[in-house]
Amino acid sequence: MIPRICILIISLYLFAGISSQSNEHDATIRTMEEFSGYQIHEPSFHDSSSSSLSVDTETLQSQIDELSTFSDTPAPSVTRILYSEKDVQARGFVKKLMNISGLSVREDAVGNIFGRWVGSEPELAPVSTGSHIDAIPYSGKYDGVVGVLGAIEAVNVLKRSGFKPKRSLEVIMFTSEEPTRFGISCLGSRLLAGSEELAQLLKRTVDGQNISFSDAANLAGYTNSDDFSSIFLEKGSYSAFIELHIEQGPILEEEAISIGVVTAIAAPASIKVDFEGNGGHAGAGLMPKRNDAGLAATELALAVEKHVLESGSIDTVGTVGILELHPGAINSIPSKAHLEIDTRDIDEHRRDLVIEKIHQSALSISKARNVELSEFKIVNQDPPALSEELITKATESACQELNLPYKKMISRAYHDSLFMARISPMGMIFIPCYKGYSHKPEEFAAQQDIANGVRVLALTLAKLSVS
Ligand SMILES: *[C@@H]1O[C@H](CO)[C@@H](O)[C@H](O)[C@H]1NC(C)=O
Ligand SMILES: *[C@@H]1O[C@H](CO)[C@@H](O)[C@H](O)[C@H]1NC(C)=O
Ligand SMILES: [Zn+2]
Repeated sequence: MIPRICILIISLYLFAGISSQSNEHDATIRTMEEFSGYQIHEPSFHDSSSSSLSVDTETLQSQIDELSTFSDTPAPSVTRILYSEKDVQARGFVKKLMNISGLSVREDAVGNIFGRWVGSEPELAPVSTGSHIDAIPYSGKYDGVVGVLGAIEAVNVLKRSGFKPKRSLEVIMFTSEEPTRFGISCLGSRLLAGSEELAQLLKRTVDGQNISFSDAANLAGYTNSDDFSSIFLEKGSYSAFIELHIEQGPILEEEAISIGVVTAIAAPASIKVDFEGNGGHAGAGLMPKRNDAGLAATELALAVEKHVLESGSIDTVGTVGILELHPGAINSIPSKAHLEIDTRDIDEHRRDLVIEKIHQSALSISKARNVELSEFKIVNQDPPALSEELITKATESACQELNLPYKKMISRAYHDSLFMARISPMGMIFIPCYKGYSHKPEEFAAQQDIANGVRVLALTLAKLSVS
């Protein structure tokens, strides 16, 4: 329980902007009752904050469950690929929930979905929150979804409590956080953040079936022109953006902590490397005469590990996730080798230094082994992002007021928030998930943990909307 004095302060704080109970407010309750199928108590403005900020956990869980049925693979796995039939149905479901919550819905040319609760000072930059609902093949039902359906529920929580925002509040569902279909991650948020490069690239992007991005978008009902730069949002369009997400790591669960307050998001760089040698017969080619592309690649893989460890920080990581040898026969010296390297850090300079060292190693290995370094391509090199103190502070005080243990942490996976940080002050809220599992059917977050996340999100949004 929260001490009385504290309850009073929060109540005053939350309800400061309330006039009287309006008809609109009654309508919200009626709609919520219709939707949830049972009576929602009239909010009492003298209630304690914890009951005022009550999450309808059952309904939220049933929404998460229902959304998971829009899948191309059988339960418990979820597969929801951008602009597929199931994705279109899932989008309809999200828009319906936004509408029921009284949010006015807008979609842009690639299907980023925005649901706005207009504040009492609509000319001020809104506070926004959101995440994604697309799911890689055979993944789970919580990644992203908690931050979309949970955000809509956070709006419901605030509406039920009688809160009225000063700045408008906006829930965003981002298009294609996962790179599954077109090989581009965080497609929607990258565009919102003004990536001219991506706007151009999309004009000639095709999927594995040679279907162009535009055709796929048209089939899903997004029939706008090719001018994706129309989607860009100006810097300052939002006063804050905050994303609720499962941790996708084991720390919160292991330490029995309810909430992670994210202070920084690590950003990946990915590199493609090709070595070419002469190949030859595995028996006839004598060792001193060889220039084995496979050995060059494996030597580079070990160099990646070495350079990452040299950084001296636990936050620097590097992975060679792809290593392909050609022709791939037991009795043939590899004539070609292809590697793909992912390296991440929360410190851009430190990560870029690792990339530079990897490049130097690739050059020196190619020289020493007499193989050609036919490609060394940095495919992407996104800068990491730091959370805005204004937002982390609001989240920390929300946790304190709700009596929830929290810890500051970094996000080692990246999210739409990484890109929203380019145009808005950014923050993230993590909740525990079972064993840190994600991107597989065993992904799970407990109802209580989701409810805690939603309450912290609701209170954080409330604070930011009146500041
Ligand atoms: C919800 O949808 C209905 C039907 O399309 C529409 O009349 C109503 O204005 C929508 N509500 C909001 C808040 O946009
Ligand atoms: C993909 O489609 C384009 C345009 O329809 C066509 O010109 C091209 O040959 C196709 N490529 C493949 C690999 O089928
Ligand atoms: Zn996600």
